[in-house]
Order: sequence, then structure tokens, then C-alpha cells
Amino acid sequence: MSSVVGYIGKNYSWDFVIDALVRLEYRGYDAAGFACLDSKTHEILYRKSVGHLDCLIDKVADDVIDGNVGIGHTRWATHGVSTEVNAHPQFDEAKRLAVVHNGIIENHHILRAQLRGEGHVFYSETDTEVIAHYLEFVLEQKKHAQISEVLVSMVERLQGAYAFICILQQKPDLLIAVRKGSTLCIGIGDGEFFVASDPIAFAGRCEHVLYMPDETFALVTRQEIELYDFEGTRLTFSVEPIDIVWEDTGHEFESHMLKEIYEQKQAINAGVAFFKSLHQSGNLWNSLGFKPDFFKNLNQLMLFGSGTSWNAAQIGKFFIESIAKIPVNVALASELRHMPFFPGENILHVAISQSGETADTLEALRMITAMNASTLALTNVPSSTIVREADGFLLLKAGPERSVCATKVFTSELAILYVLALCIAFEKGVITQEEMDEGYKKLFIAAQALESTLERYKYEIMATYSPRYAQYEKFIFIGRHVTYPFALEAALKLKETSYLFAQCYPAGELKHGAMTLIDEHVPVILYSHVDPAIYKKLVSTAQEIKARNGHLIVFGFKGQEELAEIADCFFEIPTIDPLLGPIAMAGLMQIFVYYIAKELDRPIDKPRNVAKTVTVE
Ligand code: AGP
Repeated sequence: MSSVVGYIGKNYSWDFVIDALVRLEYRGYDAAGFACLDSKTHEILYRKSVGHLDCLIDKVADDVIDGNVGIGHTRWATHGVSTEVNAHPQFDEAKRLAVVHNGIIENHHILRAQLRGEGHVFYSETDTEVIAHYLEFVLEQKKHAQISEVLVSMVERLQGAYAFICILQQKPDLLIAVRKGSTLCIGIGDGEFFVASDPIAFAGRCEHVLYMPDETFALVTRQEIELYDFEGTRLTFSVEPIDIVWEDTGHEFESHMLKEIYEQKQAINAGVAFFKSLHQSGNLWNSLGFKPDFFKNLNQLMLFGSGTSWNAAQIGKFFIESIAKIPVNVALASELRHMPFFPGENILHVAISQSGETADTLEALRMITAMNASTLALTNVPSSTIVREADGFLLLKAGPERSVCATKVFTSELAILYVLALCIAFEKGVITQEEMDEGYKKLFIAAQALESTLERYKYEIMATYSPRYAQYEKFIFIGRHVTYPFALEAALKLKETSYLFAQCYPAGELKHGAMTLIDEHVPVILYSHVDPAIYKKLVSTAQEIKARNGHLIVFGFKGQEELAEIADCFFEIPTIDPLLGPIAMAGLMQIFVYYIAKELDRPIDKPRNVAKTVTVE
């Protein structure tokens, strides 16, 4: 998962390329690069750097290059460690063409071997260099052919999901953009064209965008765009208005993550208000793409996603089964593709993805769509691929999330899954309008509890707990019923932000083996539950842990004295609806792991080895 951008037009390209890369750096920050054609000699000029974009900015500032045709890249390494040689752009042998690429060429080793047999020499470990050499090879083979013919024979051999942009010395007024699976779009400017993995890259620079259909390539000159399918057929295309704005979110917080943690109550209320207005105005069905009676006849749901969105799906299952009384399957997107799939009547398949670009979730959605099953996307990005590919969509309205570690989108996903459960229950006649309104109130109270708990404990966590717990290397997270998937999310957050080892178990499972891990060196973080029957079971588990000198940190609810007594550290959360414990506890959980990561001096918004949007499978 990387970001690719390209420019051709009346202006020099560096200004757009670097601005676009800054906007897309959430997709990968292992390395970066820029290449352009010298406007006089058409020679390929380039600069590459390891690490964050600042390094590339410094390199270009120190030794300026620019031209009217340029390409850029930020890298999330898939093949080869983060070095300058492995950074993009990658070149053919004679550096007469340059390529930036997002995705994976799955048969790169076969093509590399073939090209080596033809005498090609490779310098990097990347699959991308194979694209450059293979284009050089086909150009050689088809000296007199149209460039479109060359590309048709080339894509015949490339396997995998990819989006790449290419510039050639021999074609100084051309930018080539090729898409298969991974997203690519073209901004239509006045005398200039912008190519990028995500339209946010050129928001504010032009008004219209061409979302390249899957398995197409575009030949972009200063005058026009020629779009072809992979058979070489020239395609007509329509452009859409760009309805997204790049908000350069300057703010007083020390990081995007902290800002987004504090935005949660507001984000939840904004999402719920938007959903409510859609439902009350009757526009919900248009947005969802279903007729009102679709919900009436709904028999079952499947929720699927990756990472935090998968954890949200597992909590959403409790909401929908408890409130709407219909069964819910939850699937991990990356596994769903390999599982037997049983399409059925009146089953709704909900793809949950804040970015709407996660390859695992998109590919699972495409598999379900191919079975003509009903699909709905729950996302935070209206311009995303998932909105264009699902039958209907629901927006989180949480506002842009910049930190790689998802926080506000997690609680917004929970809130929208909760109101979706209320809505299905209402349409099925399982609950009344009063009960639905009561549900909205409970959600509002949970969002309130999230914020008040955050405010109550933030200084104590900063001053006392994070310095204390940053000294431990391993943690165990436990929960029961709806707080087990919440514990999964908490463990993910600690791993993502602090790089510490975190294991998560359903509380009742510890005694079946993992209890061996318990001792005074491995803190256990227990997320309690308001339901008295479940609480009682959690108290037994807590006592078993203490009986083995375990160190116990408890996120409990008001009045849960027994747990408060047993715990080495107890955080009290106001009592709320039992199902909504995860929302009320979320802010505190996130700030707890945040300050441990800060204590360890981790790069909070851009942790190592991951990226905000995972666009490769
Ligand atoms: C969460 O903090 C991570 N950034 C990651 O697990 C993320 O939730 C996952 O990649 C799914 O992203 P999506 O919601 O954009 O599909």
C-alpha cells in the first residue's frame, strides 16, 4: 500500500506532486521519490529518500529538479527493505522510463527470470522494477507499435492488483496510468491533469475527476485523456464533480490521534444525527439503496471488515442480535475470500471500512457482489471505492481521521451499527418509536460517559499510570460478551501505538490454558460489563488472576466494588446500557495506551511498519 501521483500540464510538476504526497502519506511512509522529464533534454531527473516525506523535500530543495511532466510516490514496503535503491521511482536499465507503483505484481519473479534471460540487470528487490524492465522489453519488441498496443501486451503478462504511473524520455508529452484492482483517478484541470491513488490529492485544484474503471489504462497528454480497456478498445468516459475538500487540519493538539480521541462525542453525535435525519425524512432507503420493506423481510446479516473495523463488526453483532433479534455472521475480510460462501434470501452483507479502500474488504465485497448478494458499505469516505462498488452506503460522518491508529472511527462505527440495529428492529416491528427514541438517548448518554471519563482520568494517566505501565513489555487483555471484542481492539491499539506485546482472550478462556502466562510481570487489563450475571463471572476470573500474583488493571463500572477491591488499578465508568460499555470505555482505553506510547517516545500518528489504508491484500 503506497501512494502514486502524476502530473502533466502547463505548470511545473513538483508543486502538485509534493502537495499530493503530503496528503497521501497516510498510505505509507517507508520511503518517497519524485521524477520528472527535463523540459529541454527530456532526460529523466529524479530524487529518492528513505523515511518520511520531509527527507525528500530537503533533497529536492538542496538540488532542485522540475518539469511539466512528473510522478511521485510514498512507499509502504511490500518487496525489499526500505532503502533508496528500493524506493520509487524504479527504472529500466537505461533510465529512459520511470515507474511509480501501488499494489503487488504477483508473478514478478517469473517475469524477472525471463528478463534476466534476455540480459536485463536488476538493482532493487522490488516487484516494481520488473514493470519498468518489462515495459522496456515490450517497447523493444514492438518498436513501431502504438503505445496502446504495447500496453495491451504488457498487461496481458502482469498478474496481481496494481496501479502504476509511468513517464518516458521518448514520449515527453505523455503520462501513462494503468489500473487493475488498486484505485487510480485523474483530476481534470485547466490545461493540466492530475493522476493519483485518491482524489483528495487534487481536491481544490480542479472540479472534475475521472475514476478509472478497473482494468483500464489512460494515455494522458497536456491536451487530453485517452482511456482504453485491457483489450485495447478506446473507451468513452464520464467525469464526476469532486465533492471532497482537503482540510489542512491545523490544531492545538500534540498529535492527530489525541485530537481524534477528543473528537469522539461530537463525531458520534454528528453521525447519529445524520442517520436520524435520513430515517425521519425517508431518504435513508435511497442512501441505503434498498426499499423500506427490505429491512422488514431481513432474515440475517453478515458484517465483515479488517483490523479495527473487524473489531467493530464483532461488537455490532451483539447490537443487532440483541435489539433486532436476527442472526448476524461476522467475518474477517481477508479470510472470507477463502471460506465457502452461502448466499441466501434477505441477507444483507455489510462491508465496514472507514477508508473504503482496504483491499481485503474490497475483494471480499467483490466476491459477494459477484454472487448477486445484497451489499451495504459503512464508511467514513464518501468518495471511496467501496461507496461506488456496494449496492448502498451509510456514512459515519466522523470527519477526516489522519492518525494511522483508528480511534473516533471505531466509536462512530459502533454508534452507526447501534442505530442500524434500532432501525432494523423498528422496521421489523420488534421495537416501537418510543423504544427507538430511548435507544438514541442511551447512545447519547454513552457518548457523554466516554467524554466525562476521559476528562476525569487524563491527568492521572499521564502522571502516574503511563510511566508505571510503560515499563512492562507484555500485556494480556480480557473481556466477556461485548467487552471481549472491545478488549481485542484495546490490544490492537497498544500494539499499534507502543509496539508492546499484547495478547487478548475471552475472560472465560484463561483457565483453559493461557493462565500459565499470568504472573506479576504481565499486567492483565480487564474490561468489565454492566450486566450482573456477566460481572459475576468477571469477578471470578479476577480472583483467579490475583490468586496467581497477577497484576490487574480494571476498567469497571460505578458500583462494582468487588472488582475495585481486587484490582491493582481501577478506572470507574458511569453505569450505562450494558451493550454500550465499549463506547463509554473507548476514550479512556485509547488515552491509556496513548500515553504509554508517548512515554516510550513512539511516533504516535505514524507508527512503524503500518499505514492508514491497506491497499494490498
Ligand atoms: C486501526 O487502527 C488500523 N489502522 C487498521 O487496523 C485498520 O482498522 C484496518 O486497516 C481497516 O481499515 P478500514 O477501516 O479503513 O478498512
